[in-house]
Amino acid sequence: MTTNSHHGAPALAIDTLTGAALAPYIADLARLRIVVFRDFPYLYDGDAGYEAGYLRRYQETPGAAVILARDGVRVVGAATCLPLAEEMDSITAPFRARGLDLRRFFYFGESVLLSAYRGRGVGVAFFAAREAHARRVSGADFATFCAVIRPPDHPARPAGYVPLDDFWKKRGYVARPDLVCTMRWRDVGEAGESEKRLGFWVKSLSGAALP
Ligand SMILES: CC(C)(COP(=O)(O)OP(=O)(O)OC[C@H]1O[C@@H](n2cnc3c(N)ncnc32)[C@H](O)[C@@H]1OP(=O)(O)O)[C@@H](O)C(=O)NCCC(=O)NCCS
Repeated sequence: MTTNSHHGAPALAIDTLTGAALAPYIADLARLRIVVFRDFPYLYDGDAGYEAGYLRRYQETPGAAVILARDGVRVVGAATCLPLAEEMDSITAPFRARGLDLRRFFYFGESVLLSAYRGRGVGVAFFAAREAHARRVSGADFATFCAVIRPPDHPARPAGYVPLDDFWKKRGYVARPDLVCTMRWRDVGEAGESEKRLGFWVKSLSGAALP
């Protein structure tokens, strides 16, 4: 367990959990995803029932892990990861289309942190913990994640919104415009689901050149 304190704020516990140890937290994780992803740029109008099923994959998939950030007993943030080869077809599609070997990639599913806890290094700790987990349980050469692509003039973009691109670059990730997947969900205020494009970012874990 590592802890993380900030200007006298209480330390958060940050732990990597796998398998059955995740069972007590599935409902917390579903709640976090719904709250955090409701904001721009995701605008996801989430459904707790769907979320619980989606998140149980992390409990059941070999090699998967969830990094939990806790303030006392309260789960305030989480980050997820699993071998890319275990991901759903919609996510692996761009890698397969380019003939890339899925086994060389470890996929980071999401990072979600309640806004009150941002800006004190938890996001950095989430990346470090997931990269450490990937190295521990796999021989993957690369870590990868994807982020929704929204037009810069999107009507729901808050004034002063700061994209996370610089944060990801500083962690060593490179944007890969050639790797884009699509997902469907209902945006807040939309009548039905619409298709979104998500662009991948990749970092070498082993020193191997990016393919
Ligand atoms: C991604 C997320 C977990 C990162 O959280 P975080 O704990 O605030 O990040 P950190 O405190 O580790 O800081 C990350 C960087 O952003 C900067 N930063 C964070 N909050 C900031 C703020 N309010 N103002 C200015 N800079 C800020 C930090 O200085 C740091 O910069 P550095 O890399 O130069 O050190 C959080 O922003 C989040 O939950 N976002 C919404 C969901 C999302 O978009 N997730 C990513 C896709 S799944």
